[in-house]
Amino acid sequence: MSNKKFSLIDKLEVEHKLSREEWRTLLGGKAFEDGEVLQYAAKKARKVGDEIYGKDVFIRGIVEFSNTCNKNCYYCGLRAGNANLERYRLSEEDILQCCEDGYKYGFRTFVLQSGEDPYYTTEMICDIVNRLKTDYPECAVTLSIGEKTFDEYKAYREAGADRFLLRHETANPEHYGKLHPENMSWENRMRCLRDLKALGYQTGCGVMIGSPGQTVECLVDDMLFMQDFEPEMIGLGPFLPHSDTPFRDEAKGSYEMTLYLISLCRLMLPHALIPATTALGTIKPNGREQGILAGANVIMPNLSPVQVRDKYMLYDNKICTGDTSSECRGCIERRVESVGYKVAITRGDFKA
Ligand code: 5AD
Ligand code: SF4
Ligand code: FES
Repeated sequence: MSNKKFSLIDKLEVEHKLSREEWRTLLGGKAFEDGEVLQYAAKKARKVGDEIYGKDVFIRGIVEFSNTCNKNCYYCGLRAGNANLERYRLSEEDILQCCEDGYKYGFRTFVLQSGEDPYYTTEMICDIVNRLKTDYPECAVTLSIGEKTFDEYKAYREAGADRFLLRHETANPEHYGKLHPENMSWENRMRCLRDLKALGYQTGCGVMIGSPGQTVECLVDDMLFMQDFEPEMIGLGPFLPHSDTPFRDEAKGSYEMTLYLISLCRLMLPHALIPATTALGTIKPNGREQGILAGANVIMPNLSPVQVRDKYMLYDNKICTGDTSSECRGCIERRVESVGYKVAITRGDFKA
């Protein structure tokens, strides 16, 4: 079994794609718990990544500007149904202030992230994007604000937004139905991702590893979807339960499996921008460093004001809630350097 996996990893490295049956072999069994397979994939992934991006790790400053959400995803602490959460919304001026701080710390990409909060109209979002692009013409602006119409995505793009993050969460429609209430649709999620690509955004999709109901076949669907969609960015983190959600008693995702998938994504899409996510740093203290060694090349430290950090709780025990932007920035530098990489002060665009 393991032998077969080694040769499939070799094949993926050369051809960047596998058949459904081959993905099943690579992702199935318990072999991701086999340290040797993991290490083999990580070593190859790191080599492939280094050939394209060198020892650079790109940083993105993330401003969590609203924890208000009108959706009810079963896994997420920001879900509308969570009455135990104190909600906040940052003003336009607050958001710009966070970015101004971020610029001083060397961030050249700002990620504006929120729950699905209709309080921020298309006009407001466009205005913020436009002001950022005017004040910092050499910076990239990434939005991560959920499902919108084609026309809304188009307006943000015309205002200057460069990138958009929208995890697909699962490429398996049946599994999607287990993670979301009935008023959310897998078809619309996929429509959003297609629209974003068509509008010329560098587009990010991604999944939680080990989300409730996720089977090997779901992960196979995810890899086949991404192989075809060719996202510029891929967000992967372990599922972590949140105590005020319907999934409070579900098991967390596997740390090792997350690293393994980072490596396989790097081999499948060598140029992709893959973050070592906050969830990975939450499940293991040095998870993000290990993520880099498994093939990730992006880190997204928090630029949100300290007063609101502990309110943007997607899952329990999220890291960095007591730290300032400046502390996170220093922390990231040390972590990245501890594994032989360096933080790049640049936009860090997708290299075609
Ligand atoms: N555990 C891990 N990741 C989560 N997300 C939301 N809730 C959780 C959780 N409990 C991820 C989702 C979402 C992104 C912003 O955060 O994949 O797209
Ligand atoms: Fe809202 Fe996003 Fe959380 Fe779903 S994952 S509840 S859309 S913030
Ligand atoms: Fe925030 Fe380490 S990245 S404290």
